[in-house]
Amino acid sequence: MEKGYASFSTSTMQFKRNIHLLLFLFGLVISQSTSQLTTVNTTGDDTDTITKAANVAKPGCQKQCGNVTIPYPFGIGPGCFLSEWFEMTCNTTFNPPKPFIGSLPIHDISDTTFRVRNKVANKCYDQFGNITEDNPVFTSLGWTSPYSFSRKNQFTLIGCDDFALFLGPLQVNFTSGCISLCSRPEEVINGSCTGVGCCQTSIPKGLKYYYTSVGSMVANHTKIWSFDPCTYSFMGERERFTFRGVSDFSDPNFINRTRDSVPMLVDWVVGNLSCSEARNAGVLACQANTQCIDSDTGVPGYRCSCNQGYQGQPYLEPGCQDINECEDPNNNLCEVAKGICTNTPGGYSCSCADGYIGDGLRNGRGCVAENSEFPVIKFSLGMGFGFMAILVGITWLYFGVKKRNLIKLRRKLFQQNGGLLLKQRIISNEGSVDSTKVFTAEDLEKATNNYAEDRILGRGGYGTVYKGIFSDGRVVAIKKSRVMDETQIEQFINEVIILTKVNHRNVVKLLGCCLECEVPMLVYEYVSNGTLFNHIHDKGANWLSWDNRLRVAAESAGALSYLHSATSTPVIHRDVKSANILLDDNYTTKIADFGASRLVPIDQTQVTTLVQGTLGYLDPEYFHTSQLTEKSDVYSFGVVLAELLTGRKPLCMERTDEEKNLATYFVMALKENRLFRILDPRVVREGTLDQLQEIGELVKRCVNLTSDERPTMKEVATQLEGLRKFTQHPWASRHGDEENASLLNTQNEEVDLYGESINPYSSTGELSSGFSIDSSLVYSTHIPR
Ligand SMILES: *[C@@H]1O[C@H](CO)[C@@H](O)[C@H](O)[C@H]1NC(C)=O
Ligand SMILES: *[C@@H]1O[C@H](CO)[C@@H](O)[C@H](O)[C@H]1NC(C)=O
Ligand SMILES: *[C@@H]1O[C@H](CO)[C@@H](O)[C@H](O)[C@H]1NC(C)=O
Ligand SMILES: *[C@@H]1O[C@H](CO)[C@@H](O)[C@H](O)[C@H]1NC(C)=O
Ligand SMILES: *[C@@H]1O[C@H](CO)[C@@H](O)[C@H](O)[C@H]1NC(C)=O
Ligand SMILES: *[C@@H]1O[C@H](CO)[C@@H](O)[C@H](O)[C@H]1NC(C)=O
Ligand SMILES: *[C@@H]1O[C@H](CO)[C@@H](O)[C@H](O)[C@H]1NC(C)=O
Ligand SMILES: *[C@@H]1O[C@H](CO)[C@@H](O)[C@H](O)[C@H]1NC(C)=O
Ligand SMILES: *[C@@H]1O[C@H](CO)[C@@H](O)[C@H](O)[C@H]1NC(C)=O
Repeated sequence: MEKGYASFSTSTMQFKRNIHLLLFLFGLVISQSTSQLTTVNTTGDDTDTITKAANVAKPGCQKQCGNVTIPYPFGIGPGCFLSEWFEMTCNTTFNPPKPFIGSLPIHDISDTTFRVRNKVANKCYDQFGNITEDNPVFTSLGWTSPYSFSRKNQFTLIGCDDFALFLGPLQVNFTSGCISLCSRPEEVINGSCTGVGCCQTSIPKGLKYYYTSVGSMVANHTKIWSFDPCTYSFMGERERFTFRGVSDFSDPNFINRTRDSVPMLVDWVVGNLSCSEARNAGVLACQANTQCIDSDTGVPGYRCSCNQGYQGQPYLEPGCQDINECEDPNNNLCEVAKGICTNTPGGYSCSCADGYIGDGLRNGRGCVAENSEFPVIKFSLGMGFGFMAILVGITWLYFGVKKRNLIKLRRKLFQQNGGLLLKQRIISNEGSVDSTKVFTAEDLEKATNNYAEDRILGRGGYGTVYKGIFSDGRVVAIKKSRVMDETQIEQFINEVIILTKVNHRNVVKLLGCCLECEVPMLVYEYVSNGTLFNHIHDKGANWLSWDNRLRVAAESAGALSYLHSATSTPVIHRDVKSANILLDDNYTTKIADFGASRLVPIDQTQVTTLVQGTLGYLDPEYFHTSQLTEKSDVYSFGVVLAELLTGRKPLCMERTDEEKNLATYFVMALKENRLFRILDPRVVREGTLDQLQEIGELVKRCVNLTSDERPTMKEVATQLEGLRKFTQHPWASRHGDEENASLLNTQNEEVDLYGESINPYSSTGELSSGFSIDSSLVYSTHIPR
């Protein structure tokens, strides 16, 4: 069963969580829509910042030679360079003037490298194989210089019948070679130096010196002289050389062209110490806003580099300067028109002008007017609320579906439990069952505090009974049945119909039922004072006087009689027992528990059913034949009567075999004239002889094994009412009060109770006390019934 409260609390929690989520998302949207400052760090991958510095050279030093910029630590003239290795000369006899380091002509200088004009070795032959030209080349950067050839250089050999040797210094023990062969010009591939007409090989790290010479491999060029009379070899910047194929062999300008266009790239570093060594020695040349980088060229030393976002002269005071990226739109990503670029140390930030929002970045969201055609805030708010609405909608939908499923389930259960049948009956009975009320599952759940343990009044074979309190303060007993067999539904409904029509003050009133519940629920009036069984067997029930016992018996009999005859369709209770006789605050009897009850169709006097009932109360005949008649209730009632009179349980294992069954025991005692021994002492005390005789006889007739010989319930009720009338007589009552002496004193006097009561001398205590037991014996033996 779905729990109403549980689902409600779950929904509340979920709703709260959703609200939180919404607020969070909403905040996110709002924060996204406000203007912001975007900070950008300039990434410094520019390797040529040193020549762009304002203070490229020391003050008063030459910055330029020809069109080559000379940055410190290089310098021309005394005091203008860091160490003698960086001293340069500018030969003004050339136009434009040419700078030199030593004898090396310099093309340009960058942060980490400079370029040197190349030298090309060559060898030429005549058609007979005589060597006509031979120019080997060697270049040295100086053994202890901070320079080394960059690995971006390569050795190259051009020729079709040649080998070249490239020899490094002994310290490096470098020797490399290249072989290039080809027999026809068609074999030569333009742009490809793979050993056919052209061969290339890389150089080792830290190379400061090399020597190259070429020689003929095959036949002193005699076989290929027609298209390749010469061979060339050189070291130069890889990216700047392109092999042009066969044309290069016969190009008279090849040496001059290559010499000028394929320079050698030279790495340079400062000092001959590492960063930490220089720092410790106090000779570190790096200035402010710079970082020292250890040499990775294979030559010991270090170099200085500007921090990111800075540029300038890292080797000269005052060090690197912050780049004002905002001066040049190409240097920053801020939006040009509406953005505001703010320079920061090492970077810059973008924002938007007043009236605009966004991150201010050209490659970001840019700047958008606050109240332009695209209202960001309104859009965000709309999105936020729209999203919230969708969430709320989904939540409602979810619970709506859940509730509908619950309703569906209940409707199914209602039908399964015979709700439609009940409705039909109600309609066919044309409103005569106004009192029948169909309660909803929620009603009953609320009333029983969700079937709480502390609300349980009792448990039985039929189910559990809960105390229910409706919101209007009405107290009811709610019987939750065990799971019900579908075939029993019709009978269940019949009983509901019949019992709601029963209106007898001594029958527990059925107020209604719940059919949409999983199991049928019956709602009864609440009877507060427990069962007759408890009152009889829990000692100390002061109220159980003879009068009250008679009254309870008479009321019960009356109610059963009413059920058997007064209702339009006879109802057989089938489980009459003291535990099913309830008592209210005034000890008024209420017959309860019609769970096993059966309706007897009008044209039938007996119904065959499965044996049901409680051992000890069960009609032995019904037990054997399964034939259910009204007389079965009479038998059971007889047992209850015996129970009421004796205070003994209907089945007691402590008694001997024949006496186990109270009915048998009672009849035997009656037969053997020792009834008074088994009667409750108080009954004996308060009841008159006649009354006890008569009621004993009544019990005997009720529990007759042959159902036909039992009286009807109506007869029983009438007889009990008759007995009560005696009791209610003032004298009889007075007599009962006086009857507190010994009961063992016996007399064989046969005394009519009525007569005795009005007999003048019977008022003496002795006389009254004298006859009781024996007269009962006499009565039982001499008066034929
Ligand atoms: C920008 O540079 C500063 C300082 O160098 C650094 O703390 C910060 O993390 C950098 N920011 C980015 C986005 O690179
Ligand atoms: C230097 O000048 C020469 C001739 O005037 C020119 O060819 C060369 O490109 C210039 N170099 C630089 C780096 O400006
Ligand atoms: C400049 O170069 C010319 C020709 O190569 C040479 O004769 C001269 O001595 C050089 N001048 C200096 C100062 O090196
Ligand atoms: C070139 O070679 C030819 C034939 O081998 C020879 O006769 C001649 O003397 C050589 N010339 C020179 C200058 O060596
Ligand atoms: C180079 O070779 C020489 C002799 O073969 C040897 O003594 C020297 O250690 C070598 N140098 C290096 C750097 O391998
Ligand atoms: C190679 O280059 C030469 C001249 O540069 C050209 O004539 C020739 O067609 C080229 N060959 C190939 C295969 O591209
Ligand atoms: C190539 O020339 C050299 C010297 O000029 C000579 O010693 C050699 O034998 C010649 N080789 C061939 C294959 O002609
Ligand atoms: C190559 O340059 C030198 C001077 O550097 C010059 O004398 C020679 O004539 C040039 N050769 C050609 C083919 O231009
Ligand atoms: C390092 O350089 C300094 C000055 O340039 C020089 O005095 C010193 O001998 C050099 N040390 C080495 C190991 O080359």
